[in-house]
Amino acid sequence: MLITFEGIDGSGKSTQISLLRDHLLEAGHEVQVFREPGGTDVSEIIRGMLLNPELEIDPVTELLLFSSARSQLVAEKVRPLLEKNVIVILDRFYDSTTAYQGFGRRSMPIEQIKQINAAATHDLVPDFTFYLRLSLEEARERTKTFEKDRMERAGDTFFTQVFEGFEYLAKTESRFKTINAERNIESIHKEILKILSLSLKS
Ligand code: ADP
Ligand code: TYD
Repeated sequence: MLITFEGIDGSGKSTQISLLRDHLLEAGHEVQVFREPGGTDVSEIIRGMLLNPELEIDPVTELLLFSSARSQLVAEKVRPLLEKNVIVILDRFYDSTTAYQGFGRRSMPIEQIKQINAAATHDLVPDFTFYLRLSLEEARERTKTFEKDRMERAGDTFFTQVFEGFEYLAKTESRFKTINAERNIESIHKEILKILSLSLKS
């Protein structure tokens, strides 16, 4: 089973992934977590380039670099693990490319990005995508003391467009489970478990 978490920076993805992983491990499942971009040697090197504030990267190059990191992660780790029935949890996947490079940067038409996403994922589609929905204001408040990487240095218009991108996906992708991420950590965790519980019993 492939579970992905999406949402703007600071929406609580890492926090919820860590709780979910612990819960699944305690229940006896085999679980692996990867963050995007990253998770393989090649993908972590690409991550270093993408988040380096000293580099200027053209929007199309940026889209292709995120996609290259993803292709390597799927081929090297995700697909083989899924074949062994391990539950794989991803901290971001191709929906982030639609939101950030498509709606945020406007690097290419969304239809074209969908084709690149399909190539980069080797046509792998998540079973569940949890969209942690948080306002930009609250996310900014939660992360105001954090150091900003290259992506996080983009302006307010960019982040508003990214937020709109996730909203578009929530409306158009039936796999998206929208979670109100303004609530406390424990109630969000419980809602996620409730949504997953039926399919995990089988
Ligand atoms: P992301 O991985 O989406 O960037 P994090 O899980 O790192 O988000 O959370 C960003 C910050 O917000 C962290 O300091 C975290 O402890 C805090 N946080 C996460 N979830 C909540 C919540 N439901 N309510 C308040 N603060 C939260
Ligand atoms: P990271 O620190 O992992 O994200 P977060 O702040 O949510 O914990 O940084 C990844 C950054 O890369 C984040 O700003 C989102 C961005 N990103 C894209 O622009 N496109 C993508 O396809 C992915 C996977 C991430």
